[in-house]
Amino acid sequence: MSDAPRILLIGSDGQVGWELRRTLAPVGQVIAASLAGEHGPAIDLVDAGSVRRVFNEVAPDAVVNAAAYTAVDKAESDPEQAQAINGDALHLIGELAATYRIPVLHYSTDFVFSGQTERPYREDDAPQPLSVYGQTKLDGEQALLASGADALVLRTAWVYGVRGRNFLLTMLNLFRERTELRIVDDQIGTPTWSRMLAEVTALILHRVFTGDLEMERIRGLYHVTSSGATSWFGFAEAIRDLSGNPCALTPIPTSDYPAPARRPAYSVLDTRKFRDTFGLLLPDWRQSLALCLADLKG
Ligand SMILES: NC(=O)c1ccc[n+]([C@@H]2O[C@H](COP(=O)([O-])OP(=O)(O)OC[C@H]3O[C@@H](n4cnc5c(N)ncnc54)[C@H](OP(=O)(O)O)[C@@H]3O)[C@@H](O)[C@H]2O)c1
Repeated sequence: MSDAPRILLIGSDGQVGWELRRTLAPVGQVIAASLAGEHGPAIDLVDAGSVRRVFNEVAPDAVVNAAAYTAVDKAESDPEQAQAINGDALHLIGELAATYRIPVLHYSTDFVFSGQTERPYREDDAPQPLSVYGQTKLDGEQALLASGADALVLRTAWVYGVRGRNFLLTMLNLFRERTELRIVDDQIGTPTWSRMLAEVTALILHRVFTGDLEMERIRGLYHVTSSGATSWFGFAEAIRDLSGNPCALTPIPTSDYPAPARRPAYSVLDTRKFRDTFGLLLPDWRQSLALCLADLKG
């Protein structure tokens, strides 16, 4: 085990981080850092000293950052904290990864786009965030890509899974309490299972460690979601039908469900670059949802 590459996983308690602790286990020795420090070193991305200290002590061979300020609406009234975690920390992580000459994998979001388009967004489409969350995530991805580190930024969307705060678990809870729900039908995107993201991350990192993929060649920005697209209403319908729930669902426009942060009306991501580069399949969102629900049923 001592020869196994050391992977510093930051944000190991989040939706994606929790899955990464499992999928990265066969790839290397996972050092699971989190705010609480429950399963490894404590790290606070707001505290540059703690980030430097963890890098120094762990001496990782690669870093995967799954930590983020993800409370999209709260970020509108808490922009400094969102910027510190999603933006400033990535300047530092990039600087440290460049200094240590280690690869760094990071996640960003479809919310870097404004949604004013009718075809899936490509990596070279101009970002134009509508929210503080989107703006701070954009700053973080740009900082990392400009840092000189061998960085992969995986932009994803509409993440759900068996734990954490996400639309799937919210719907399942509401279905237990309510007989009728009104769900936004005019925002289009792609629900993406946290497990699938963690699996493709592990597959890529394994190939990097074995020398099958050269970071200098593949570094950069990639769009990674499930295949297909739907609205929040369509996602809710699928959850209801697959979980065998009788709740009545009514489609409503975004204007009937005001929220502090503006969201893109259309944020489907074109994943061709990712599929072509890594030769991986990205399953249809309904297929992943069915598997995730089967996991929840146990
Ligand atoms: N969720 C989505 O729908 C979605 C969509 C597109 C992209 N993404 C991106 O995907 C990545 C993973 O997201 P996720 O859904 O797994 O998020 P998540 O479940 O909210 O997990 C984020 C983790 O970051 C931790 N964290 C927050 N502030 C921190 C700090 N100052 N220092 C260290 N850790 C801190 C959180 O800890 P606490 O819980 O203790 O605060 C949490 O464990 C993020 O980059 C996110 O921007 C997510």
